[in-house]
Order: sequence, then C-alpha cells, then structure tokens
Amino acid sequence: MAEDDNQDSQEVAHDLPSWAPGFASYYEALTGDFRGDVPMYLEMAKRYGSPILELACGTGRVAIPLAEAGYEVVAMDFDKDMLSVGQSKAKMLDLTRRLQFSKADMKTFSLRKKFPLIIAGANSLIHLPKSSDLKKALSRCKSHLEPDGSLFIAFEPTQYISAAGKYRVERERPRQVFNRELGETLLYRGTTTIDPNFQRILRHHEFANPRAPHDASRTAVFDYATRPIFPGELEVLIDSVGLKIMDIAGDYELRPMTRQSEKLIYRVMRKK
Ligand SMILES: C[S@@+](CC[C@H](N)C(=O)[O-])C[C@H]1O[C@@H](n2cnc3c(N)ncnc32)[C@H](O)[C@@H]1O
Repeated sequence: MAEDDNQDSQEVAHDLPSWAPGFASYYEALTGDFRGDVPMYLEMAKRYGSPILELACGTGRVAIPLAEAGYEVVAMDFDKDMLSVGQSKAKMLDLTRRLQFSKADMKTFSLRKKFPLIIAGANSLIHLPKSSDLKKALSRCKSHLEPDGSLFIAFEPTQYISAAGKYRVERERPRQVFNRELGETLLYRGTTTIDPNFQRILRHHEFANPRAPHDASRTAVFDYATRPIFPGELEVLIDSVGLKIMDIAGDYELRPMTRQSEKLIYRVMRKK
C-alpha cells in the first residue's frame, strides 16, 4: 500500500459518477457468473409471484434466471450498454416474451404496472450517491408495489462497518479475466478506496493486455463511487416514504439476521 495514497487529502469522492459508462462487458467478465444469490430470488418469486421488477438489473444476472424459471420480469437499469448485454443474452435464450429490459433511473422511474415483488438486490442501492436519492428510489418503489407486494433490499453493511476505520486504499492482486465480448483474456487489477467521512467507496478497475501490460492504448480504466448504506439510515428513509420493514434476513437462505450476518435482506411493504 503506498503511504501517499492514504495521506492524500483530495476530496475526490464527490466528483466521481455512480457508475462507469462502457464498463458493461468488463463488468460481465468480472461478475457475470456469480450465482450465489440467484436461488434466493427464485424462492422469492415462488412466494410472491410475478410480474417482478428488478432495479439496477445490470446485464441480467438475476433477471435472466427468473425469466428462465417462467416468471414475467421487468429488468430496469440506466446504462444502455449493460441493458444491451442483457438483451442479447435474453434473445439468445428466447426469453424476450417474459423479460423486458427497461432503460430508466431508479430515482425517477415510472411504469404503468404494479408489482407483487420488487427486487433491489446485490447492493444495487449503493449506487445512489445521496441519502435524498435513496429516498427517491424507495418512494418510486412504494408507488410500484401492489398493496400486498413486497420489496426486497439486499445490501452488505459490513462494507460500511469496515469503512468505519481510517481513509485507506486497498489494492487487489492482479488476476486474469476473460472478456467474452472482446474475446480476450485481460489482466485485471482492482483498487478500492474507502472514504468514511464522505461515506463513499471508490472503485477503480484497470484492464490491460497481458502481453502488453504497460501499453496505455490497450488499457481500459473505469472509476465510480458507491455509497455504502447504514442500516439505521435505511430504516429512517423506509419509514419516511410510507413503507414498513416486515422482516430482516441475514443470508441468501433467508434465515433471520444475526449479529454475525454479513448481508442483510430487508423485506419491506407499504404501511397500511
Ligand atoms: C454492480 S451493477 C449490479 C448489476 C446487477 N444488480 C447484478 O447484481 O449483477 C450496478 C448497476 O446499477 C446500475 N445503476 C447505477 N445507478 C443507477 C440508477 N440511478 N438507476 C438505474 N440503474 C443504476 C448500473 O448501470 C449497473 O448496471
């Protein structure tokens, strides 16, 4: 860890966007195969039914298996490249009748449908840079929930708790990843900057050609800032938009939360 990085008083956190345009195929190379939480979403679909709305669906990592299982899904995201990767996978799998990708911002979306199940999974809400944005997204969810519908919010408070220490920069060891769209194996190195005072986690992704790792013309760099969620903050905002927490699970098997839980999955309904 370079000492200078940690003494840098630059207040960069506010300037970074909450997502990086053009990152789609690289994101897919990093996380496209992760399926750890998918059985949980299938279980929710079984309990609550469809149509299902997924916020910040990315490339369809969750929406596609839900549609494959027969559920009608609206998968929403504001990044056209992420949506187009998802759309081409859905076409290939002949799912376009059940799975609709929709380009919208989760702070402002308005659809002509209500849902028995809305999913804000896999830390999706950490891409909202301000508390007021989080409130807007929750309020939009409320408007799109059926009267007895459930909204599930999955996030990892541990990320924030570990961020409660000092400002620091953590570098991952370089590893190779395969970008299917480019048909190339790339050298990947991720850097995470934890900035507790601004409640930000900055992600820096660098991809290089393994045969020419220092050739800048063949290097792709993506930066964005996320905002880890405080459980207490989320609870206040949920209440303030007229929603109510029904239960909190602590793992992908939807078992109740314990002190040791590394993830929290809130089930939220409209207040009666
Ligand atoms: C880390 S990806 C997660 C994708 C997907 N939920 C998954 O689990 O694979 C975050 C996604 O959030 C989307 N996103 C960020 N801010 C958004 C916003 N305000 N409205 C809609 N989508 C947003 C990005 O475009 C990106 O696809």
